[in-house]
Amino acid sequence: MAVTAALIWKGLLRGARGCWTLQSMYSPCRFCSTGATMKNINKPVLDRIIRVDHAGEYGANRIYAGQMAVLGRTSVGPIIQQMWNQEKDHLKKFKELMILYRVRPTVLLPFWNVAGFVLGAGSALLGKEGAMACTVAVEESISEHYNNQIRTLMEEDPDKYRELLETIKKFRDEELEHHDIGLDHDAELAPAYLFLKNGIQIGCKAAIFLSERI
Ligand SMILES: [Fe+2]
Ligand SMILES: [Fe+2]
Repeated sequence: MAVTAALIWKGLLRGARGCWTLQSMYSPCRFCSTGATMKNINKPVLDRIIRVDHAGEYGANRIYAGQMAVLGRTSVGPIIQQMWNQEKDHLKKFKELMILYRVRPTVLLPFWNVAGFVLGAGSALLGKEGAMACTVAVEESISEHYNNQIRTLMEEDPDKYRELLETIKKFRDEELEHHDIGLDHDAELAPAYLFLKNGIQIGCKAAIFLSERI
């Protein structure tokens, strides 16, 4: 228990350091130095999509970091690490897109840093089923959210946003794989599964609403 508490504390501190590094990455100077072509794009739509997706992938990384702090040395450690590695790639891609399209991150990033880690570690403290229930809830919300964005971009102009559409479709498919991995690893056996899942999904919806706007 003492080891788990130490790992949770270490993870929170590491996240805090990472968050400040991330904030400093998006300084105005950095934005001014990029040369992305902004012609003929719906910038408000693109801003909203990239900002919220970056926030979501950032939060997902923190959730898996929290789960690994608690369950990293158990039998599900490798599968959680495998999903986390994919989330790292997703986050890297959205960081690149933010720089390319000069989109600022949400101001809530420091909050998602702590909230994501606490959700991951908290669900994992319920056991592997709790962690997997959290994964099912979050990944279901994120894949639905990606589907909504795919619809929006298709209505805007599928050719113009082809690259972004491909990225979002690929990530949506990987989130669905994570969702299925959660179900295959007994998510539904978690204590108060439906209550837990619904509660987490309400939180996800609120996080999406806020990260699109501020
Ligand atoms: Fe992801
Ligand atoms: Fe995922």
